[in-house]
Amino acid sequence: MKRCKIVLLFLTVIPFIFLTVAITFSQQEQTTGVPVNPAGPISPDAVMSSKHPPFAPQITCAECHETKFDAISTATKQCMKNYKLLDKETVWKYIVELLPGRERFVMATIYEKRTGLFKKEAIPTTTTIDFVLNPEEKTLYAVCEKGTEKLEQIKLNPVVCASRYEGWTVAQKGKQVWKSVQVRGKAEIIKAQDPRFHEALQKYQLVRTKPEQAQKRFHILKVSIDQAIYFNSDFLKEGISIYQLWEK
Ligand code: HEC
Repeated sequence: MKRCKIVLLFLTVIPFIFLTVAITFSQQEQTTGVPVNPAGPISPDAVMSSKHPPFAPQITCAECHETKFDAISTATKQCMKNYKLLDKETVWKYIVELLPGRERFVMATIYEKRTGLFKKEAIPTTTTIDFVLNPEEKTLYAVCEKGTEKLEQIKLNPVVCASRYEGWTVAQKGKQVWKSVQVRGKAEIIKAQDPRFHEALQKYQLVRTKPEQAQKRFHILKVSIDQAIYFNSDFLKEGISIYQLWEK
């Protein structure tokens, strides 16, 4: 009889304790919105499973998980691995839409300067530049005044990275949407005596300088696009990766 009572007690008390604990935890999850299980460290190439606890789209992985990033494994790539990527043609269409004419970019050039007998230092420079996209060739054209810093750096290292961006600012207010494109590629200098100069100049669409003056004043920069990362903050709402990759 006594044994029976103990068994009965266990049968009622244990489920009761279990239920209380479960309710407390689920309430905690509901009120705070933060899952109860801790988020452990993840590798930069980790991909969420379908069982991953849900979270608001504007929260990034690194806010919950410790992640060891380096220059190659970046948060941009982490985002691209975990959210929907659009096909190459669609990404290219968005890029063309963002660059309809002559667009003002910031371009980085980089070269190594000798600072000692065995020492070199990488010197990056960003400058502004107006590029015209040639959608068929997948190239960017610009005119560049002879002797400018960017041109001299490109002679030493033709690898460039250029960004065009638009979006909400404190001063201008407006819609809170951010769009940009970051382009990586190789720049070629087309000099005035090059037979391709005039054809390239037409692709650029000069506005104030006459072609004869341009020939004296400018070299043409032709950048072949190897990689472009398109960014659109609006994609977040649709569950699409805000970073989209286009590669040659
Ligand atoms: C709001 C916090 C939060 C954010 C943001 C978040 N995680 Fe998690 N993640 C968790 C928690 C908590 C767990 C543990 C879940 C469990 O064990 O039940 C987890 C588990 C995981 C796991 C292992 C289990 C699984 O679902 O595969 C991976 C991998 C992971 N997260 C990757 C990511 C990546 C990649 C991102 C960004 C795209 C991300 N997480 C964003 C909280 C978060």
